[in-house]
Amino acid sequence: MSVPLDSTPAWQDFADAVRDASLSGEHLRLIEAASLTVDLTAQVQSPDLERAAQALCEQQGLNAARRALFDGGEVNWTEHRPAWHTALRAAQPPAAVAEAVLGERERIRRFVADANARGAYQNVLHLGIGGSDWGPRLVARALRHQGLQREVRFASNVDSHAVEDSTLHLDPHSTLVIVASKSFTTTEPLANAQVAIQWLREAGVADPLKQVVAITANVQAAEDFGIAPERIFRLWDWVGGRYSLWSAIGLPIALALGCDTFDELLAGAADMDQHFLNAPLAENAPVQMALAGLANRSVLGFSSLALAPYDSRLAHLIAWAQQLEMESLGKVATRDGSPAGVPTGPAVWGMTGTDCQHTFFQWLHQDTAGAPVDFIVCARPDHLYLDHHRLLIANCLAQRAALLRGTSFEEALHDTRKRVCDEHEAHVLAQHRVHPGRRPSTLIVMPAMTAHHLGALLALYEHKVFTQGVLWGINPFDQWGVEFGKVLARGIMNELDKPSGSLSAEDPSTRHWIETLSRQRD
Ligand code: F6P
Repeated sequence: MSVPLDSTPAWQDFADAVRDASLSGEHLRLIEAASLTVDLTAQVQSPDLERAAQALCEQQGLNAARRALFDGGEVNWTEHRPAWHTALRAAQPPAAVAEAVLGERERIRRFVADANARGAYQNVLHLGIGGSDWGPRLVARALRHQGLQREVRFASNVDSHAVEDSTLHLDPHSTLVIVASKSFTTTEPLANAQVAIQWLREAGVADPLKQVVAITANVQAAEDFGIAPERIFRLWDWVGGRYSLWSAIGLPIALALGCDTFDELLAGAADMDQHFLNAPLAENAPVQMALAGLANRSVLGFSSLALAPYDSRLAHLIAWAQQLEMESLGKVATRDGSPAGVPTGPAVWGMTGTDCQHTFFQWLHQDTAGAPVDFIVCARPDHLYLDHHRLLIANCLAQRAALLRGTSFEEALHDTRKRVCDEHEAHVLAQHRVHPGRRPSTLIVMPAMTAHHLGALLALYEHKVFTQGVLWGINPFDQWGVEFGKVLARGIMNELDKPSGSLSAEDPSTRHWIETLSRQRD
């Protein structure tokens, strides 16, 4: 068994340095990365911490792991495969996969060009879930101000209300249905595909499957489903589901926003890849964000991370990041099966600004626990209301400054006395107006919401998560917890279909509801 992380000298130095470091916000700390600016001023910092962080990265083998990620090494060690999403977006992918990657990119280009030339498919209905859904859904939403060439709808949940909703007011005769599933065994997209095919059939589409394409690593399963080989786009086992946006899973983006936009997205991510691969660790944005996350989660005890993009176009970033961070970093064991020894992956949650200020920011400011916040903002908007954009920025900066600065009792009392004459009441009220402050945050500034900058932003988060996986010693590319839930769901589904009473191993409540709800199925 390996030594738990918290017993290693490098970790102990790192943890001590974090506790001794200040979160004063006095030293401006900016990192430029692939045209994004990452402001880490409001995270703990000190020269000792910088040295200890460097030593921790060395102890945990970050340089070698980073090299292995880009070289297609077995970074997903529990499933014995690479997680080679960097190859998908490289202008010139590594030789071992170049033919496959470039070939599939070219097939997408031809498919979109052909559809455009024929004036085919006014609408696209994309059916996937998790990594086969959030990436394209996020990008299509974030960039639609650039002008949509097609209406694109997404349905992921197996709740058929969702897929029925997504077809509302769509013309079935001009809708392309995309079934996106790396495994092609996932319940949700396959069940939703049946609803969509039924919808096409009921509308009189003679051969519904001719309006369906699949994106999958399991070509045989897609063919068995009835989809012709020429309508199946490929990804591969060496692409992690939640890292698959850069593969053919991006097809709806190419259809809705154009292939050039999709290429720009890949190029932005590839720029961030180069930054992550080559920038010294002390000036490496994903690495420094990862270290700040380690300090906050594993030393300072913050159990969650809030995301506050001050740009409504990034509404889906939160769910995308939830899957990326929580499916990747919510793990119980390190490489040899022993526990990490320190708390790992934080819960991730959030909302776009300024809505978030009117929901959970009160808690961030004054609750005893609080949470670190990632603020994200675009320097330049794509609308003409520049005053309003300044309002948005002012709010973002003000919230961040308030979390950092806080309000002492003396400041609150001084202010309260101006309005309240009774001294006792002023003292009581002042207590309510104290803000602890010194709450960590990161600010990420994008020059504007372009495909290039968006690609860079998403890759920044991917590499931050990868770095945290390496430093914590956990595998960020598997998801055994999700698989466990899927196995139980299959058993319960069988019981609901044909109750046999054989699920005796389940708890009494689950047994009760299987019996009760199976009786009500008609
Ligand atoms: O949520 C679990 C998961 O396995 C994710 O990792 C994946 O993105 C999602 O299901 C969808 O899987 P698939 O693309 O194979 O349908």
